[in-house]
Amino acid sequence: MNQPVMQGLTLNTPAYVKNAKLIAWVADMVALCKPAHVYWCDGSEAEYQRLCQQLVDAGTFTKLNEAKRPNSFLAQSDPSDVARVEDRTYICSAKKEDAGPTNNWMAPAEMRTTLQPLFDGAMRGRTMYVVPFSMGPLGSPIAHIGIELSDSPYVAVNMKTMTRMGKAVFDVLGVDGDFVPCVHTVGAPLAAGQADVKWPCNKTKYIVHYPETREIWSYGSGYGGNALLGKKCFALRIASTMGRDQGWLAEHMLILGVTNPEGKKYHVAAAFPSACGKTNFSMLVPPAGFEGWKVTTIGDDIAWIKPQADGSLRAINPEAGYFGVAPGTNFHTNPNCMASLDKNVIFTNVGLTDDGDIWWEGMEKDGPVPSHLIDWQGKDWTPQIAKETGAKAAHPNARFTVSAVNNPALDDAWNDPAGVKIDAFIFGGRRSTTVPLVTEARDWVEGVYMAATMGSETTAAATGQAGIVRRDPFAMLPFMGYNMSDYFQHWLNLGEKLAAAGATLPKIYTTNWFRKGEDGKFTWPGYGENMRVLAWMIDRIEGKGQGQENLTGISPSYADLNWTGLNFSAEQFASVTSIDKADWLKELELHAELFKQLEHRLPKALIETKAAIERRLAA
Ligand code: OXD
Ligand code: MN
Repeated sequence: MNQPVMQGLTLNTPAYVKNAKLIAWVADMVALCKPAHVYWCDGSEAEYQRLCQQLVDAGTFTKLNEAKRPNSFLAQSDPSDVARVEDRTYICSAKKEDAGPTNNWMAPAEMRTTLQPLFDGAMRGRTMYVVPFSMGPLGSPIAHIGIELSDSPYVAVNMKTMTRMGKAVFDVLGVDGDFVPCVHTVGAPLAAGQADVKWPCNKTKYIVHYPETREIWSYGSGYGGNALLGKKCFALRIASTMGRDQGWLAEHMLILGVTNPEGKKYHVAAAFPSACGKTNFSMLVPPAGFEGWKVTTIGDDIAWIKPQADGSLRAINPEAGYFGVAPGTNFHTNPNCMASLDKNVIFTNVGLTDDGDIWWEGMEKDGPVPSHLIDWQGKDWTPQIAKETGAKAAHPNARFTVSAVNNPALDDAWNDPAGVKIDAFIFGGRRSTTVPLVTEARDWVEGVYMAATMGSETTAAATGQAGIVRRDPFAMLPFMGYNMSDYFQHWLNLGEKLAAAGATLPKIYTTNWFRKGEDGKFTWPGYGENMRVLAWMIDRIEGKGQGQENLTGISPSYADLNWTGLNFSAEQFASVTSIDKADWLKELELHAELFKQLEHRLPKALIETKAAIERRLAA
């Protein structure tokens, strides 16, 4: 099937691709973007190696020292292209109110008119990679298929690690299967004879979603969530709208397996805003005092959760790899993660040591600081330069891309097409005051309220300003594909449906690992010690754990947690669990502000829950 679409260019469609809609769409996109070549990725190891070598030859990748970091590469991006661009991210639903007040919106026709001239010829001089991928185990009833067309080989190799990418996807797709079309260009066409740069991108950026037609169009960036379209764009923004329409959930949640000393296994899905230790929690190592407990990873970032006929919820991790933040990761904060990074990794924007290995801020806890390295911008870096200028070896949003199979704590069921049964949800923000260590919702509606009103303090790394509380409902603020109030209603409806099926609903918790003492330091030790809270949750699910009712739910008292192996006094515990009336009066004003913003279609049940907290506060 080598239909010419432009003079001298064929689609090169492999014989095993039989989906007419796909072939017609690729032809249309080739005609629009005008690449020099079209290449259909097969997902093989040989292809991965070939593309990585091509990236080395182009100067985008540096091959790392084979003895220290086998089969691993470092990419250094353009300094202007280092993170997701929330202000350039659009939800283009037909009606503005369906995108809701938390999203950038433009009418679909207007956006199409805006993007048409940008995409016209955008891939000139480059190869268009056709990247077939499954989000979730191939053929799983919870999985869905996407096809990304990208002019970035960096995207193609990252998608191989982050998704089930390759030609087996076409078998699942068949002749008339459905897929989410994802078009991506770095927006840097090459004229005849023009030399390429190491990290092509464009100052103009658009990350665009059309929820009704389930399309993704991404222009101008080669970085992370802007370019690896299976992740935030598909698995959260588009999938959340699919979930709304089809009755399931696409959530910004890690998924854990927890096995207690009696050998009973439970599964927990947890939502934390970016930069709240999500990867660490997903790979938690139980501390001393928790011998016999086991924590295993199913996913580190995203969960797709579908209700079953018996009222249970089953979840898969739609991804196949981790695209995690490197700085701050070390053998103390996350030993399993560090162990995952010993081979077959793509690092982006970390420092390059003189012996061909990588280094980032935080690794000083594991060993000596290199006396010299090349920083993420390609400049000389020494501890002295860092001291004088504040220069960082790694960009604060530097990343690693690694396959889940590298994780020593990987759960046996991580690839199970049936997914795992969810027993509890956790929602956790970063709050230095006000919000206690852990609270259990008394019922589903109270849990939805907690998740909807979740706030988190911004970190200096992300915004330049530390300590501003931003409301981040369900940790979905940047990832919501439709109206936030409708999303709350969707959660409420789901709870009703599960209850009607006679199911015991998953318990819902909020956590806050980040309360600070008067000295400005974190009081709670965090990391592996979070196991103490997790174990209490599991005990509660089993009907064993004790708790006391309070303003917003149920919390443990000091004696209800296992303190073996940790020196943490009842006084310290009180300081991370106290509920201060004045603080909560202020907090409820902030909930009121959020509810004002989301007023249109805000579920009544949440307004009533707020009123109940206010009544308890006044009592
Ligand atoms: C991420 C994020 O990259 O949440 O996972 O920002
Ligand atoms: Mn995330």
